[in-house]
Amino acid sequence: MSEKVEVVTVKKMSKDDVDGVMQIEAAAYGDHHWSKSSFMSEISNDLAFYYVLYDEKGMLCGYAGCWHILEEAHITTIAIHPDYRKRNYAQALLHRIIKDCYADKIKYITLEVRVSNTPAINLYTKWGFSSFGTRKGYYQDNNEDALIMWTKNIFFDEFKIPYEKLIKTLGEQITINE
Ligand SMILES: CC(C)(COP(=O)(O)OP(=O)(O)OC[C@H]1O[C@@H](n2cnc3c(N)ncnc32)[C@H](O)[C@@H]1OP(=O)(O)O)[C@@H](O)C(=O)NCCC(=O)NCCS
Repeated sequence: MSEKVEVVTVKKMSKDDVDGVMQIEAAAYGDHHWSKSSFMSEISNDLAFYYVLYDEKGMLCGYAGCWHILEEAHITTIAIHPDYRKRNYAQALLHRIIKDCYADKIKYITLEVRVSNTPAINLYTKWGFSSFGTRKGYYQDNNEDALIMWTKNIFFDEFKIPYEKLIKTLGEQITINE
């Protein structure tokens, strides 16, 4: 018998989601997290694309956000509630973000990540990001360095072919309603 494919919903973040997002934000980042007003201003910013992911039971499990600036996109955040990790939810959100980049003719996607954040670095590496240097002491709470990661041009086969394989594999594990 085939395994049941999980169904999740990924939709644009609205102001009604923000209280739930704040709970995940605190669980994911501890004391050094964004404020509610930061999310409120992000979701009303025309250059920003923020999404939330709900599971089959209607539980808000995670969110991600990105800015589009000319031909570049900058992933600003991605977080999954600790109780819902390792279920492909971050990949579902990342897929949604990259889909928007294609639609908006974005060529390159970048982000910063703490050098110690192995789960996130592995996630981004799996999805075609590579490290291009560090920003020294970028994180003010502990003076930690940020790894700067970039994709290749997302319209080039070097990115696009592995990306399409990842989407196919993801689709076998999870159904994403939008
Ligand atoms: C990073 C994070 C978003 C991953 O979310 P997730 O839903 O658990 O990730 P997924 O299940 O979609 O996993 C996708 C890939 O991420 C990597 N990964 C995720 N968790 C990992 C872990 N604990 N250790 C190592 N790699 C991990 C793997 O490459 C994994 O692919 P695999 O299943 O083939 O091994 C989550 O751990 C999180 O919210 N962390 C706190 C917030 C944060 O650090 N955000 C990033 C800021 S730059």
